[in-house]
Amino acid sequence: MIERPMRSFPDGFLWGAATAPHQVEGNNVNSDFWAQEERMPGADRSGDALDSYHRYAEDIRLVAESGLNTYRFGIEWARIEPAPGRVSRAALAHYRRMIDACLAAGVTPFVTIHHFTSPRWFAEEGGWRGERAVDRFRAYVEAATSILGGVEWVCTINEPNMLAIMVREAEATLDPDAGLEWLSPTLEADTPRPVKPAPPVEIGRRLVEAHHAARDVLREGTDARVGWSVASRAFETRPGAEEVRRRLEYVWEDLYLEAARGDDFVGVQAYSAQWVGLDGIEPHPVHPDNTLVRTAYRPDALGIAVRHTADVLPGVPIVVTENGIATGDDARRVAYTTGALDALAEAMGAGVDVRGYIHWSLLDNYEWGHWDPTFGLVAVDRETFERRPKPSLAWLGGVAKANALRDEAWR
Ligand code: FCB
Repeated sequence: MIERPMRSFPDGFLWGAATAPHQVEGNNVNSDFWAQEERMPGADRSGDALDSYHRYAEDIRLVAESGLNTYRFGIEWARIEPAPGRVSRAALAHYRRMIDACLAAGVTPFVTIHHFTSPRWFAEEGGWRGERAVDRFRAYVEAATSILGGVEWVCTINEPNMLAIMVREAEATLDPDAGLEWLSPTLEADTPRPVKPAPPVEIGRRLVEAHHAARDVLREGTDARVGWSVASRAFETRPGAEEVRRRLEYVWEDLYLEAARGDDFVGVQAYSAQWVGLDGIEPHPVHPDNTLVRTAYRPDALGIAVRHTADVLPGVPIVVTENGIATGDDARRVAYTTGALDALAEAMGAGVDVRGYIHWSLLDNYEWGHWDPTFGLVAVDRETFERRPKPSLAWLGGVAKANALRDEAWR
């Protein structure tokens, strides 16, 4: 056992677990990703996923019973607006029932408006590059505000920096000459190779505009705290490569963080860290400790991520909206999360203002083309949809109830 001090967290700290609609609901047939799944060679299909569209009450119960106090989930644009300008009242009522189920269970709903997927019609109209993109998104957000009463936390767009990469990956699936190897946004290659191309800045700027438009609508129509969540790169710098890092950090991350100035919070999402040298970002070395998405095992990435975010955005409170590990070994998940929470507490001790920690993911879910990388606190039988909590769920719930990482967490 390693001797460590007890780490306490502030009163009212959010302790949660997260999901995203396309990854858990099932049969999201009007979405762009559903269509894209058919075009990606070797990709698994989402299919029924985990049937959370019908089993959300059970998912929320698992959160509540574990001791966690927050559930981050998304609402699906393709269901709410299956055709341009046609809003489904039934879909809105469905998501309102999810919010009510959280509130009834004493769980804080943390609602994501856009988590990677858009309606298929939106993609066909030109998607995020299209002329009407921001107006289309604004209209969807206007429809969504009608069900957000009593919701305190709203994330407009999840990981716009990854979304920008996914827009390009989607285009590549339509163009056989694009030469972009498809892997999924989160899965790295099994041999070291050049890192993915950077998020295209022009798409990034468009997403910034969409975020600001959504923020105005949400501030006008709800009482929620509004922000967005950025995928942290947690870059580390080889000697002499500071300038290279700063340049890369801007296109990969800071463009999106700077757009969160004036937001009510910023979501930090961190999984691993990566070195930047004079030649740019270094691929994750192949190593037996690597996670199931082939990234380096770096529990300390979360500390690097929140410190960098606080440097770019002084005065904007942080919520860790995702952190976790793809592993088949649940004890390793607990060890990783313990390390991540320790790094988080240390950064908070040094003055970084963090309001909550939301683990990715509540459930072993559809990892954008792959079912193998398991991030869940809960396993799911994909034929019966039976939920089987792993020991890590009770463990994280225990941390939440104590609002502290105690000595025994390190055993
Ligand atoms: C993030 C995504 C989330 C999931 C995790 C592993 O990039 O927001 O949907 O894929 O990574």
